[in-house]
Order: sequence, then structure tokens, then C-alpha cells
Amino acid sequence: VLMPLVEVIKGAQTSDEVARRAYDFVKSLGKEPIMVNKDVPGFVVNRVLISLNSAACLLVANNQYSIVEVDSAVKYRAGLPMGIFELQDFTGIDVGYLVGLAVAERDPMLRVPCPLIEDLYKKGWLGQKSGRGFYEYKGGAYERANIPREAGEKVDLVSIFAPAINMAAWLLRNGIASREDIDKGVKLGLGWPKGVFEFADEFGIDKVVDALNQLYSRFNYELFKPDPLLTQMVQEGRLGQRSGRGFYEYGAAGTVEFKEIMLRKEPPLAWIILNRPQRLNALTMTMLEELSRALDMLWDDKEVRVVIIRGAGDRAFSAGADVSSFAGPLHTYYFFLYNRRFQEAVSKIERFPKPVIAAIDGYALGGGLEIAMTCDFRIATERSEFGQPEIALGILPGAGGTQRLIRLVGMAKAKELIMLGDRIKADEAYRIGLVNKVVPKERFEEEVRSFAMRLAQGPPIALTYAKYAINFGTQVPTDIGLMLEAAFFSMAVNTKDAQEGVMAFLTKRRPEFKGE
Ligand code: COA
Repeated sequence: VLMPLVEVIKGAQTSDEVARRAYDFVKSLGKEPIMVNKDVPGFVVNRVLISLNSAACLLVANNQYSIVEVDSAVKYRAGLPMGIFELQDFTGIDVGYLVGLAVAERDPMLRVPCPLIEDLYKKGWLGQKSGRGFYEYKGGAYERANIPREAGEKVDLVSIFAPAINMAAWLLRNGIASREDIDKGVKLGLGWPKGVFEFADEFGIDKVVDALNQLYSRFNYELFKPDPLLTQMVQEGRLGQRSGRGFYEYGAAGTVEFKEIMLRKEPPLAWIILNRPQRLNALTMTMLEELSRALDMLWDDKEVRVVIIRGAGDRAFSAGADVSSFAGPLHTYYFFLYNRRFQEAVSKIERFPKPVIAAIDGYALGGGLEIAMTCDFRIATERSEFGQPEIALGILPGAGGTQRLIRLVGMAKAKELIMLGDRIKADEAYRIGLVNKVVPKERFEEEVRSFAMRLAQGPPIALTYAKYAINFGTQVPTDIGLMLEAAFFSMAVNTKDAQEGVMAFLTKRRPEFKGE
């Protein structure tokens, strides 16, 4: 009763008419069918699930990761409803083990024995029902394994997901099911937040193939041999979101090229890319006006829930205001007006009604840091450097640095940064509260996306109000700030999303917020 998905499987002799009627029958029950064109062991969803379990098990068995690390990574970074091992405890180790044997007998591709499961099965540790499996349980129907949120930081999600993606590619190439049905299958049947092909496009098909090659050379199971469809995609440059095309199409249609920025829509996300890489994305008035225009375009765009700002090239988020714009005599008053215009554009991020993330890889200096500070969140690579170096030029920050830095790091640190003009490294920036998260370069894009996707799944209306209550409530006396909070609270409580959130909590499911 809980499972919305039904796989409708055609046998060798099933006529299209019978298949269609079965499909319609499933719909008439209020369930969601997918069509499986050929009877293969495990059908669609369980083939993908068994494949997902495979690398995870082998990497744990070989001490590369611990059980908790893998489970935390798939749960909190990939957004799956349960960890890989947690789920096996829940369904029963005996069930998993015996099903594994049965399908392996019928299909060599599914022959990836998991020594961990066999061991538990032989010990009689059958999971939650017997009080012990991968985890220990004290009893109680709603008991959940203890999986800390941060435990999965170092796990390479691509190698965990690669076998499942490979299997999905095999299913697609062999015409077992359509791309849409396979993705619908894992979303409805396994509760994944996105389809297996959507994951693949996000990771990058080339990275998936690399991970498979490594698994294949290490463990030599057929499941890990990159499917010809994947290698062909790599050859054709269909690498996923990054190249505009993978299993799905992205990019071109969604990309608007301005002169000095780019706007790429990838619902529910949008990327604004500061695009003067040869000048380390130094800010000009043109760039800021374009940034402002891009924000206007996204302001009430229902498809976009989160905006990410990043720099082009591989050296900087932005090295600050273009120093050449300070040259030349300009009447003080007109410089003041010019500066105010600069500030207006930067402040627009603060007033923008959706969450904005600064994705920082490289330098974030001067005006670059000031833009990043106006964003709601900052995620940076380990090598990034931060600073307000204006003092060295005989000037001071002019796009909010003297105001916003204090709020993030406190007066003493802010004065040190502004009055000495030193650059600091990412780890220190994290320590003093300037950035939310520091991640290794190779995981940068994935971390930014998964952070953004968590925000994108939140209730858009309440997120706007929360952002405004925080950003503007702190600029006024506390009593007025509290009044603002109460007003926003009462506006949020009357939304459909609030009803949905409470309902989902009570029925123990994931809420689906529509911004209504
Ligand atoms: N405005 C204009 N141009 C800038 C710039 C800025 N803020 N920051 C960097 N550039 C240009 C450089 O002039 C250089 O151009 P060139 O190749 O034509 O000479 C190019 O970007 C690459 O920078 P470069 O200085 O060669 O790189 P680096 O690795 O040696 O140093 C920085 C990097 C960021 C430390 C250094 O460029 C710097 O200090 N920039 C100025 C930062 C600043 O003061 N910002 C606040 C302005 S108010």
C-alpha cells in the first residue's frame, strides 16, 4: 500500500494490447506503472538497487570506507531516503542474500557476491528484525540506525553510484525500459530524489566511466565493465550537465550570454557566472548591471528555486573591482554616485527572494568577497583565498565590506582583514565563520549542487520569508525585527506548503513543496 510504483513486465509472448491493458489497470488502481519490455531478472528497480549495493559492499569489505561512511554519504549527500546498508537491514539480510543468489544464478551480470552479507547471513544477524545486522537495534518499530550527517564527507559518491548507472545504461541500450521509466522507477520505487540518469548527468558521464574502469580493474566483475552506451557518450562529448547534454539535454536553450556574465538555467537551479576569466573576473559596472538584470529575470521565475553565483575560468571567483576603473579624475560627488550604484547591484542579492549561494574556487577578494558575503551561503574549495585588499591601494572596501564582514566574523576579525588587507586561506575563513563549507576541488561542483538541491526542496515561500526576516530584521531594533518575524510567520503558516509539511511529517513521508 505504501509503494506507488508498479513494474508492468512483458513476457516473450505478451501482446502489446495485453501489456497496455495491464498498464491501464495499474493506473486505474491509482498506482504509477512503468513498462518493462522484457523479462530480465530483477526487472528494472531491483537491478538498479542490486547494482548500487555492489560497489558499496566491496569498498567496505576492502576497508576503503566504513558502513556508516557510505550510508551517511548516500543519505545526506545524495539524498536517498535510507543508507545502502541501513536499507538492507530493514528489508532483511536473509532476503537480500537469497535473492542475490537467485538472480546471480540467472544472470552473470548480477554475480557480484558481497562477502559482508554472506557473513551476516551465516551468523544469523538478519537485520532489524533480529536485533542485529549491519547495525544494532534495541527493538521498536520506528527505530533507525544512528548515521551521523558528517560521516560521509570523504566518500566518492561517483564510485558508489557508478554500477547502478552502468546497469541503467544497459537497461536502456537493450530496450528493456525507457529513460523516463527507469528514472521514474527509481524515484517512485526506491524514493530517490532524482533519477539514476539524472545522477549520471550531474556526476559527469566521463567521471562515471573512470570510476567503472577503476572498479573493473580492481574487482573484475562484469557489472563494472563500462556499458558501450556510456563509452559512446563520452566519445561524443555527451558528458552530462557540464557539456549541456548527457542522458538529458541541458544548456543551450537555458543559457543566456551577456557580455560579462552568463546565466545558465538548470531548473530548479540557476547559475550566474562572472565571466572575465582573463581578468580574474574583476568587477566592472557592466558586469554588475548584467548581474542585476539576471537577478531580475530569475526574480519570480517559478522554475528556479536557488541561484548559484560562481566565477569563470579556474583561478578566481572574483579578484574584486576592476582596478582600472579607479583611474582618471572623477568629481568626488560623481564617484559617490557611481559607488552607490555599485552597492545597489551587490545589495540586490540580499533582497533577492530566493536563496543564493556563492560557489568560490580561487580568489574572492575585494568586491568579489563583498558579492560572496551578500549571498546567503558560501561554499569554497580548499585552495580558495579571501581578503579585503583595498587598503593596499590607499582605499577601503566600497561594496559593503565594512558592514557585512562584521556581521559574519565580528568586529575584531573584520578590522584585521580590512585594515591590514591580508589574504586568508579557506580553512581560516571557515574557522572565523566567513564560509559555510570547505570542500576538496574534485568534489566542488557536486557539493555545491547537493547543497543547492537541499535548499531547492525546501518550501520556497517560507525560505523567502526566512531570508528577509534575517536580512532585514537584523537592521532594525529587535522589537521591530520580532514584529517582522511574526508577520512572516503568520503569512507562512497559511500556505499550502505549510499544510503539506505538517501532513508529510505526520504520515512519515518526504514533503513536496510547490511554493503555493
Ligand atoms: N582589477 C583589474 N585587473 C585585475 C584585478 C583587478 N582587481 N585582479 C587581477 N587582475 C588582472 C591582472 O592585472 C592580470 O592581468 P594581466 O594578465 O593583463 O597582467 C590578470 O588579472 C591576472 O592577475 P595576476 O595579478 O597576474 O595574477 P597573480 O596570480 O599574480 O595574482 C591576485 C592574483 C588576485 C593576488 C592579484 O591579481 C591581485 O592582487 N589583484 C588585485 C586584487 C585587489 O586589490 N582587489 C581589490 C580591488 S578594489
